[in-house]
Order: sequence, then C-alpha cells, then structure tokens
Amino acid sequence: TLQVKPSAEAFAPSNIALCKYWGKRDNALNLPVNSSLSISLGHLGTHTRLALSDSGEDKVLLNGKEQALDSPFAAKAIAFWDLFRRDQILPIEINTTNNIPTAAGLASSASGFAALTKAINEFANLNLPIDVLSAFARMGSGSACRSLFDGFVEWEMGQLEDGMDSHGIALEASWPDLRVGLVKVETGEKAVDSRSGMKRTVETAHLYQSWPMQAAMDIQKLRQAIADKDIDALGMTAEHNAMSMHATMIASWPPLLYWQPASVAVMQNVWGLREQGVSVYLTMDAGPNIKLLFEADQEAAIKAVFNDMEVVAPFAS
Ligand code: PMV
Repeated sequence: TLQVKPSAEAFAPSNIALCKYWGKRDNALNLPVNSSLSISLGHLGTHTRLALSDSGEDKVLLNGKEQALDSPFAAKAIAFWDLFRRDQILPIEINTTNNIPTAAGLASSASGFAALTKAINEFANLNLPIDVLSAFARMGSGSACRSLFDGFVEWEMGQLEDGMDSHGIALEASWPDLRVGLVKVETGEKAVDSRSGMKRTVETAHLYQSWPMQAAMDIQKLRQAIADKDIDALGMTAEHNAMSMHATMIASWPPLLYWQPASVAVMQNVWGLREQGVSVYLTMDAGPNIKLLFEADQEAAIKAVFNDMEVVAPFAS
C-alpha cells in the first residue's frame, strides 16, 4: 500500500530529439524500435503539484484551468496515477503548469509525464532510482523517459520484455554555446497523434525498414559530434535524421504529412542561411513547427530572418 504525503511537486524539462524515436515494438509498454538521443530544454518544461483531493474526487488542472475528467489530458494523467494507486482509494488533485511558451508550438507530453512521474515518486514516498522513474515515464509517453534528465540524453531501446532496461541515460557532456531556436508555424492540435502516426508508418511504409539502421548510425555520429562540440556534424546529423523520419511518414498510406506550406518556407529560409555561411540546422517532430540548432555567435544572423524565434540555452546555469 502507498503512504502518501499531503502534497508534493516536481519540475521536468521539455526535450527535442536529435535522433528521433519513431515506431514501437510494444504498443502497451511504449517500447521503441530504435534508440534515440535528445537535448533537454533547461527551464522550459512542466511543473506538477499533487495533493490528496479533499472533495474525494479526482481533479485535474492544466495551466490553472480545471479539466473535464474525460478530456484526453485528464484521462491520461489519471490513468497514469492508476498504475500506482491500483485499487487503493487515493483521490488525487493533479495541478500541471507548462511554462513552454504556447507560441512556440512545442508538445508538452514529454515534460508532462516526466514531471508527473517525479511528483508521484515524492508524493507516494517511492524513492525509486532515476532510471526506474524514466522507465515509468516512458509508459506515459515514450519521449518522456528522456525528460527525467538535463542536457543530452540517450534513450536506450533495451531488450527486456518488461521494458525495465528501456529508459533514458544522461550523457556526460556540456555545451554552453549550443542554442535551440523554436520557430512556430502553427499551435493548434496536431492532426494525427504520434501513437497512431507511428502505427501507420510501421504497418504501411516499406521505407520504414531502413529507419532502424539509419537511427543507429545517427546515434553514433551524434555522440561523436557532442564529444567534439562540432555544430555542423551535430546539425547535419539531426536534420538528416528528422528528414528521414518524415520520409517514412510520407511513404505511409494514407500519407502522413505533418508539414504546412509555412514549414517548407522555414526550411527554405534555413537552407538559404546555410548558403550564406550561417551554421544553422533544423529538426521537426510530429507537427508543423520547426526547431533550429546553432551556436550563440550565429544567433543575431538567424534572428534577422526569424524575428519571433524563441531561443533556449540548454546549458545555461
Ligand atoms: O513521446 P511520443 O509518443 O509523443 O513520441 C514522440 C515522437 C517524436 O516527437 C516525433 C520523436 C521524438 O523522439 O521525440
């Protein structure tokens, strides 16, 4: 039985994958087909506070607003708490705040489940080691297992059937000049969520067969680029990886294209900057928004083209 505190809270950063997670080998446990590698976004992420609910009913708040218990967000958060409370009567109040600028159009499920997992660990006095917490967060949302850590994080795909070896591991590396730029194209709900998108790709895209090998090679290249602090090697690998993932999506049936015309316009501007000698690279997830990778000394040149870009310094103290 769980012994809970009156309340507990936790923060977890959002993360951007440089080598993407795309495809599950186990749908129930969120076990990936490939390992992935990400960068956490420092102070940008999710803060979650848990308390025993005095009304006796579960209650879920998102950015200060109470959510219907059958809304997708509340249902997922409560289902996750159910994994821990099982049949104990422990009505909970989950209060989640995202400080990710909504204007940046960044998904918050990764930081959300990571913060919820950390808060549950405190709230229920579980004292679980961080790799176990990461494996739990993975069951909420795959990419959440990387948000348990700061800096560069590798999600080892693992091989155990119960998934306990499939979790994030922090890489020992710091890169104070590295910047992530968030370029918003659209903030609305995405058309096809990542779970169904992955399923469609794995089931219908012949091109997907080449993905696991590409991902494995890209992780090696990224490790080297991080060790060398080589922005061109890092950026090239991350951009190539993201484009390859999107190629498998486009090769699905029916086709899965997360890009908007404005996404393509941003890509062309990024390539234009590179032609002028600016070291800037792009990556994209299951949505139309673009994330840029560059070093601090290029920020002014990039901002001249992308005025409303939000800039994150992942290793700022
Ligand atoms: O964590 P999920 O199930 O939302 O999947 C994330 C998938 C990508 O964002 C496209 C890639 C990644 O590794 O973050």
